[in-house]
Amino acid sequence: MIEQINQIRVEAHSQIFSAPDPDALDRLRVHYMGKKGVLTTLLHQLKELTPEKRREMGAVLNEVKTNVERDLKQRQTELKRVVLDKEISSSGSADVSLPGHFAINSGSLHPISLVMNDIVQILKRIGFSVVTGPEVELEFYNFEALNTPEDHPARDMQDTFYINPPVLLRSHTSPVQIRTMKDKKPPIQIIAPGKVYRSDYDLTHTPMFHQIEGLMVDENLSLADLKGVLNYLIKNLFGTKTLRFRPSFFPFTEPSAEVDMQCIQCKGKGCRLCKSTGWLEIGGCGMVHPNVFKSVNYDSEKYSGFAFGMGIERIAMLKYGIDDLRSFFENDIRMLEQF
Ligand code: PHE
Repeated sequence: MIEQINQIRVEAHSQIFSAPDPDALDRLRVHYMGKKGVLTTLLHQLKELTPEKRREMGAVLNEVKTNVERDLKQRQTELKRVVLDKEISSSGSADVSLPGHFAINSGSLHPISLVMNDIVQILKRIGFSVVTGPEVELEFYNFEALNTPEDHPARDMQDTFYINPPVLLRSHTSPVQIRTMKDKKPPIQIIAPGKVYRSDYDLTHTPMFHQIEGLMVDENLSLADLKGVLNYLIKNLFGTKTLRFRPSFFPFTEPSAEVDMQCIQCKGKGCRLCKSTGWLEIGGCGMVHPNVFKSVNYDSEKYSGFAFGMGIERIAMLKYGIDDLRSFFENDIRMLEQF
């Protein structure tokens, strides 16, 4: 029996690999593995052997069976390829609809970038142009020129990262206001998106986050213009137009206000998102302080202006219903893939 099996092993291998087409291959499959096939018949004959012999032959036979199955599969793949190649060369073109060898995952923009792009696009439509400034900044631009001298208590409002005084990591995008005004004469209408840094880390604060600054300077600008711009932005970003200005304080604006928009979830009725207040805070703003104009040699009798600054993470959380700030920075692909 062992000789018979060995002969089958050799024969099957060479026959399978010289099968010229899928039909011939299928006939070989039936010949060896079918119900009345050569190997199946031999398996039945094992019954007639002594238990010892049966175990020995059984093992050999099983190994041959496995080999034949593997050969059949391999030849099948080869023949498919041959058929396909023939089709392609006879039609004179490749089938571009066939799946490729690699799955290529396409990337997507980070939710912070999406919101930033949205805001920039909306404000560009009404005449704002984009400027940028350095993230490694001088005290002068970050504080002094913004009417925040060394001993000013407002410096405590922002826990600043110093690199080597007077060099620091900017704690807000407002220094870009100063750089722009030092560079150009009015009229000015700019936005400055970018990264800012503060020594703060908890559930709602990360040491790096994003802001977008807005500045407009011209003759006869008033709070009404500021409100108009912010209303337009919120209308286009969230579809709501109801804003509230809460008196506040910033050294570089007077008067100053904190901007709230009506809660997008409960429409002002009060819910968990707005902590039952009906309002969501989105940024700070105000009319440019005369001392700021003085530091850039603008005539504050002739010109007036307004500025605003908004936190992008905050707006992205509201827009996409994300409730944990840290998920922006964990780079969990399952979260990012949703955008
Ligand atoms: N720079 C302020 C902050 O980071 C926001 C602001 C910008 C306020 C412009 C008024 C005008 O908190």
